[in-house]
Amino acid sequence: MAQLWGGRFTGETDQMVYAFNASVSYDKKLYRQDIEGSRAHVAMLGRQGILTEEEAAQILRALDEILADVESEALAITMEYEDIHSFVEAELIRRLGDVGKKLHTGRSRNDQVALDMRLYIRQEVKETDGLLRALLQTLLSGMEAHVETIMPGFTHLQKAQPTTLAHHLGAYFEMFKRDRQRLSDLYARMNYCPLGSGAFAGTTYPLDRAYTAKLLSFYGPTLNSMDGVSDRDYLIEFLSALATIMMHLSRFSEEIIIWNSNEYQFVEIDDAYSTGSSIMPQKKNPDIAELVRGKTGRVYGALMALLTTMKGIPLAYNKDMQEDKEMTFDAIETVKSCLALFEGMLATITFRKDVMRRSAGLGFTNATDAADYLVGRGVPFRDAHGVIGRLVLACMEKKIAIDEMPLFELKQFSEAFEADVYEAISMDACVNRRLTVGAPGKEAMRSAILEEKRYLEETPPIGINA
Ligand code: ARG
Repeated sequence: MAQLWGGRFTGETDQMVYAFNASVSYDKKLYRQDIEGSRAHVAMLGRQGILTEEEAAQILRALDEILADVESEALAITMEYEDIHSFVEAELIRRLGDVGKKLHTGRSRNDQVALDMRLYIRQEVKETDGLLRALLQTLLSGMEAHVETIMPGFTHLQKAQPTTLAHHLGAYFEMFKRDRQRLSDLYARMNYCPLGSGAFAGTTYPLDRAYTAKLLSFYGPTLNSMDGVSDRDYLIEFLSALATIMMHLSRFSEEIIIWNSNEYQFVEIDDAYSTGSSIMPQKKNPDIAELVRGKTGRVYGALMALLTTMKGIPLAYNKDMQEDKEMTFDAIETVKSCLALFEGMLATITFRKDVMRRSAGLGFTNATDAADYLVGRGVPFRDAHGVIGRLVLACMEKKIAIDEMPLFELKQFSEAFEADVYEAISMDACVNRRLTVGAPGKEAMRSAILEEKRYLEETPPIGINA
């Protein structure tokens, strides 16, 4: 084992204690961020005259070499180090001798790990944003293609009123748009640099924190060094945003699963995104959607775990915080793969327009519009409601839709019915007369699509122009 401390100890660390304490097996993921942070720190130490320019230059060169060697796999991050910070420093000392021992001047692993995590999360926020953008783009294409694709809308999973697929997809567009906004909000709050907070009380060296913050593209340094080392709010906010993304993906997955069922057959999932059964040859299962729905649990779990871990920690740094990593890493990887796969599944899915339209026409989704038609012909609404109620009952017995009943039969329910009723209660008329802002009617939908399109064009990726 190789560790950065030991001077005040006389006994050896117990092997199991060492293993329990060590984090290198997972925080090695942060090697890039750790080296990037050390580069900024050393450049600043040189600039401030805390190290000589020559010493700083030597360390910077060696850090670059270590990074290159890790990337090329010439150098392995092995388990003999306590954490990624120990690994980098030990390797530096191995390469430079005494000069390497100056890297950690005016720094603590507490501000170091706080910085590494922020750098890492900042990058992951950008990547998640990129995946959300791609999904929004796919949704928008679907919306543009399906303004006239009529389908039943549901409440209580019962057919309610006709709508369009564009309208249905548009609801998800709004959800994922808000998800992007959440990421952008938390990015703006977290983009401050904790480096220079030291163990928790800053340091006596004349560090230029504004300079390191600038080198690392933060808005500026954090303003309280105690908070700087012990704040994990940004992780909780990110996990909460990720949990919300998963909730949206899971609802959408549930719908895809229902739409893909033998009873509905609204969609056909592309072969590339479905799987078969080892025993039942006819099966084509929506496993991707099911897995996305299922993986939602572990992302919620990560959020709950970190909230719970943080709740009892006194200021400032405590080792509990090391527990912020594994579940966060897992949640991030989970969400990123779910977003990518879901987008692929959606981009290749076939919507069966004929089935959707037929289904919309078969649930008496136009009953309200039929009553309104009679009202337009002078029948008082309460009477019209009764007429249509009896008509629906008759249609149910005959297993037909209202507009499948011939006019002479309709007239037996009310003399007010005329030949124009069929057009008035057609699915197209029912949908396209709904023209309030946000409604599925063609004109309303087209202007919503224009606005969503403008949003996508005008909202830059997170971190650009920030
Ligand atoms: N591995 C530690 C973590 O992830 C790094 C910070 C260690 N600091 C300390 N004082 N032991 O939190």
